[in-house]
Amino acid sequence: MSPRDWHEAWGAVAEDALARAVSTLPPAPAPGILDVGAGLGMAWPALAARGGPITAIETDADLVAASRPRAASLGVEVHHADVRSWLDRGDARYGLIWAGDVLWCNYFPDPQAIVHRLMQSLVPGGRLAVFTGNCMPAGSCGATPTSSAPCFE
Ligand SMILES: C[S@@+](CC[C@H](N)C(=O)[O-])C[C@H]1O[C@@H](n2cnc3c(N)ncnc32)[C@H](O)[C@@H]1O
Repeated sequence: MSPRDWHEAWGAVAEDALARAVSTLPPAPAPGILDVGAGLGMAWPALAARGGPITAIETDADLVAASRPRAASLGVEVHHADVRSWLDRGDARYGLIWAGDVLWCNYFPDPQAIVHRLMQSLVPGGRLAVFTGNCMPAGSCGATPTSSAPCFE
């Protein structure tokens, strides 16, 4: 299954849950929202209702290309980049950082470092929101995922 197929299947079952999670957040303070590991942008409609503008960062070029029509319709600025490099480019700050099913050990072997980096990229009063399907047992950081248990209910 390609990343794009995976994300389309994921979106079909999870888009409502993502929207519900985002809708629990307060409005995002200026200057805007950062979506980390945006995939196909499943969270964007809900994020757009929290404020804007939205900047989305995604490392997979195919997903970036596939997300462009949705990005254009919602005014989302999408970048093909690693979020760590993106944040290291300057001193950008955000009112809300959304990390939807991306703060996983396979992507970020040092979870504390990326959480710290994201927190540094918030304006005062800003918020880091982390959504996770909890696919990995506690304490398994660095291990190979072997469970086929459902990632969410
Ligand atoms: C499991 S998907 C979740 C996608 C989306 N947030 C959603 O909920 O539908 C994680 C995404 O994060 C991207 N990603 C992984 N590491 C990244 C990094 N360092 N910077 C930006 N994107 C990253 C992956 O390519 C993948 O598309």
